[in-house]
Amino acid sequence: MDPPGTESQGGNKSSACCLKLPVCPKSAAAGVDAIVAEGFEAGGHNGREETTTLTLIPQVRGGAVDLPLIAAGGIASGEAMAAAFALGAEGGVQSGTRFALTYESSASDAFKEKCITLDEGDTMLSLKKVSPTRIIKNDFYRQVQEMEDRGGHRGRITATPWQGGSFQKKVFLKVISTKAS
Ligand SMILES: Cc1cc2nc3c(=O)[nH]c(=O)nc-3n(C[C@H](O)[C@H](O)[C@H](O)COP(=O)(O)O)c2cc1C
Repeated sequence: MDPPGTESQGGNKSSACCLKLPVCPKSAAAGVDAIVAEGFEAGGHNGREETTTLTLIPQVRGGAVDLPLIAAGGIASGEAMAAAFALGAEGGVQSGTRFALTYESSASDAFKEKCITLDEGDTMLSLKKVSPTRIIKNDFYRQVQEMEDRGGHRGRITATPWQGGSFQKKVFLKVISTKAS
């Protein structure tokens, strides 16, 4: 595969979403044009280390790479953007959850309506033995927690065919149920 940002890619720029410090220099060495440093406040997939945005950004800016730095994770207001800039994210911010809930977003209305009712503590990092993901504390979350508590095993889970979306959930639940029973 051609390096990112080359003519053969139409001059497009690329970035790597890094959830912990050591990944940043590796991504830079691979040829990306910018680093997105994302703390575990973020929606979606997260790092196993649970590094926060406020601690990750200054560490990356402190010498890990000499590339434009974009901050992500829990940034949903002008004030939060200002904080990210103050910490050294001169490349900008990547905001996900806020835009997922806009009128223009293709997310379902049910998802948007649910999310805007959420309060502090209503989302948690889950699926920690598979691929840590911030999810709403709903029935699925409770099933996962219960099954992990009963001995879900990452090796068995990752050995299964892996895809996204509901299939991922189904596979996870099936495998971890097998282990727990
Ligand atoms: C519902 C949802 C799904 C996401 N899916 C992906 C994904 O498939 N790949 C990815 O790199 N990031 C994904 N993200 C992460 C976003 O690209 C973004 O980095 C993150 O949402 C920023 O944190 P914030 O949600 O606190 O603004 C997802 C985020 C959300 C909220």
